[in-house]
Amino acid sequence: MTTILGIESSCDDTAAAVIQDGVLLSNIISSQKVHESYGGVVPELASRAHQQNIIPVVDQALKKAGVSKADLTAIAFTRGPGLMGSLLVGTSFAKGLSSALDIPMIDVNHLHAHVLAHFIKENKDDSNQPAFPFLCLLVSGGNSQIILVKSYKDMEIIGQTIDDAAGEAFDKCAKVMGLGYPGGPVVDRLAKEGDATKFKLNKPHMAGYDYSFSGLKTSFLYLLRDELKKDPDFIEKNKADLCTSLQKTIIDVLMEQLRKAAKDLGIKEVAVAGGVSANSGLRTAFEDHAKRLGWKIHIPPFGYTTDNAAMIAMTGYFKYPDGDFCPMDAAPFSRVVM
Ligand code: KG4
Repeated sequence: MTTILGIESSCDDTAAAVIQDGVLLSNIISSQKVHESYGGVVPELASRAHQQNIIPVVDQALKKAGVSKADLTAIAFTRGPGLMGSLLVGTSFAKGLSSALDIPMIDVNHLHAHVLAHFIKENKDDSNQPAFPFLCLLVSGGNSQIILVKSYKDMEIIGQTIDDAAGEAFDKCAKVMGLGYPGGPVVDRLAKEGDATKFKLNKPHMAGYDYSFSGLKTSFLYLLRDELKKDPDFIEKNKADLCTSLQKTIIDVLMEQLRKAAKDLGIKEVAVAGGVSANSGLRTAFEDHAKRLGWKIHIPPFGYTTDNAAMIAMTGYFKYPDGDFCPMDAAPFSRVVM
């Protein structure tokens, strides 16, 4: 029996999960509320909250799974990318526990884990996993990438943003409309009531499969600046239409490059991952592509779109049979390494 404890602490969620023989037994997340009033994650506050949360979260994950520490086969943890102080809490905790229990430690790339979240099984009969090779659109607050996934350990980034990430475009535009942080879910909600044809925003034309969202963000800011001069209540009066146009433009940009990549590579198995994959418009666009182009699509359940430890434990479960373990002197990494 292989029982993996997963630990995630790369940003502002402290999470732990247990996967036994490929099946998820528990998935606990403590989201930090302390950042809400700052309009973004404050790294030092995030590290402190991880310190407070990590022991109770791991404890709860073990209890919910019905396993004891002695039952664990290995500990998988997020080594990066992420906030250094936050990563250090999870990494140090994993080192301490693996040393005390004398079991291996498995380092996990957070971005690989988002992709491999599609393989999480909630019961052993769960069989709706992607087949290799597949394309994965990874869209979060920090990344927008098209990844060619050849196996669980062979992933190639074939396109990525040259400036802002899609989630950042949602969040920054939402912030200037006074919608709070993170703005993506609020834009999603308001976009359901608006008219996408009312405002036209700039779409980038990028070579290959890369993305760029900074021009779209600037065109949105200029639109608000010009209209607010004429009517100070412009945002309030047009909130829903602005959100619909913004969301539609971001989705059009994301899907255009993904369609191009799928066509060029002759791949019809297409997945989406990362926080922005919770977006209802993006999910609908995937479903439309499945109908129109015969794509076999993979959209993760909401709980596995944002940061979670189930995906870390799952990645650890894939790496375990290869003996792909991590030494005690492994340091976390804050920047993207794929
Ligand atoms: O993967 P994730 O949880 O972590 C980071 O990369 O930090 O992604 C967070 C991002 C944020 O930008 C948030 O606004 C966006 O995902 N997001 C959404 C939705 N839910 C979360 N964006 C659009 N629509 C949503 N429903």
